Amino acid sequence: MARQFPVPHSIRTASDCHNIEDFRTLAHRRLPFPVFHYIDGAGDDELTRARNTAAYADVDLVPNVLAGVEQIDSSVTVMGRKTNLPLILSPTALQRLFHWQGERAVARVAERHNLWFGISSLSSVSIEEIGANYSGPKMLQYYFHRDRGLNAALVERARAAKFDAITLTVDTIVSGNRERCKRTKFKTPPEFTPASFLSYAMKPAWALNFLFREKFSLPNLDTHVAEGSSSSISIQDYFDKMLDPDMDWKAVEQLRNDWGGTFCLKGVMSVGDAQRAAEIGCDAIMISNHGGRQLDGSRAPFDQLEEIVDAVGDRMEVICDGGVRRGTHVLKALATGAKAASGGRLYLYALAAAGEEGVERAVTILEQEIRRGMRLMGVKTVGELNREMLRKR
Ligand SMILES: Cc1cc2nc3c(=O)[nH]c(=O)nc-3n(C[C@H](O)[C@H](O)[C@H](O)COP(=O)(O)O)c2cc1C
Repeated sequence: MARQFPVPHSIRTASDCHNIEDFRTLAHRRLPFPVFHYIDGAGDDELTRARNTAAYADVDLVPNVLAGVEQIDSSVTVMGRKTNLPLILSPTALQRLFHWQGERAVARVAERHNLWFGISSLSSVSIEEIGANYSGPKMLQYYFHRDRGLNAALVERARAAKFDAITLTVDTIVSGNRERCKRTKFKTPPEFTPASFLSYAMKPAWALNFLFREKFSLPNLDTHVAEGSSSSISIQDYFDKMLDPDMDWKAVEQLRNDWGGTFCLKGVMSVGDAQRAAEIGCDAIMISNHGGRQLDGSRAPFDQLEEIVDAVGDRMEVICDGGVRRGTHVLKALATGAKAASGGRLYLYALAAAGEEGVERAVTILEQEIRRGMRLMGVKTVGELNREMLRKR
């Protein structure tokens, strides 16, 4: 579980990291604190963020033995694409702020491991660049803006760049209350004020990379809104000013039809909404509370998984998003009925800590954990995981 700081001295490089929590420790060491707390923090009292991971500990695995598991197959087909693992790298914003290699590093690792990954509407590389350079399965995470011209442009750009799916995030109708960001005055791009200067100056490696490498921008937005270019804004203000709180099921159906391709709804938490998503023809849903960054006190995705799978699992794919820090968490989600599990911080801490090398190591660790876990559970394919192999405490 979450480690208490100060940072143990033994974790100084990516090779000292043996699990995702170690990368969190290294990220804390390397990032200016406003940036670290933007990644690590969540809404209000951060109860939901904590529960997202803790929920996995309330269910135990019951393994079978003597199953002849030398040859195993951890692949799965999700949203029409076969991937090596039942693990998706969820879309997250602003990655160039966390490490200068940003989305490019994550895309390269995802491609090497043949994993789904997503770029955010607020990504720091363009839809076109990702489309042109990475052949792996990729989704554009879509925010529904007040500016309808921007919304239409995002769909067309995703189509032209041959993205495999659009994932509409529906849990961000207004911004969550991220108090850590308020305290640190986190803005994007960072404002170097007299008050914040010290936090950046104390991490010169990060600051030099940020200042002297490619300029930070949000290229999916910059043709439409000033916030896509150089003006600093808090994420809270961005969500509250730019996104359309009137978005409703009709708007989702319209977007789904305009896009016409594989469509996923991210941020569904109730059975009723999952049923509605199935009725309008979504191919998949991500059960998600945005990593606890939105509605604090919301239930954890893993806690909601069983009832949602029972209601809609035969009609569309259900992905369990958030809180995943171990391969066994993925196995528990799959045994409950998820098609795949997904997460953001599981690769973001590693990106922040050590760029592409870090993400490669984090994904490799998770891959080993999943495959080791499958063997110890006595399953040769992920499809063999089932609820008989789980017991609630
Ligand atoms: C720093 C950060 C930025 C994020 N940005 C986005 C985003 O732009 N769009 C989105 O739909 N979700 C975003 N998310 C949520 C992730 O897609 C995912 O739902 C969440 O990280 C899952 O929780 P986990 O971090 O515990 O895995 C972000 C999460 C983090 C930590």
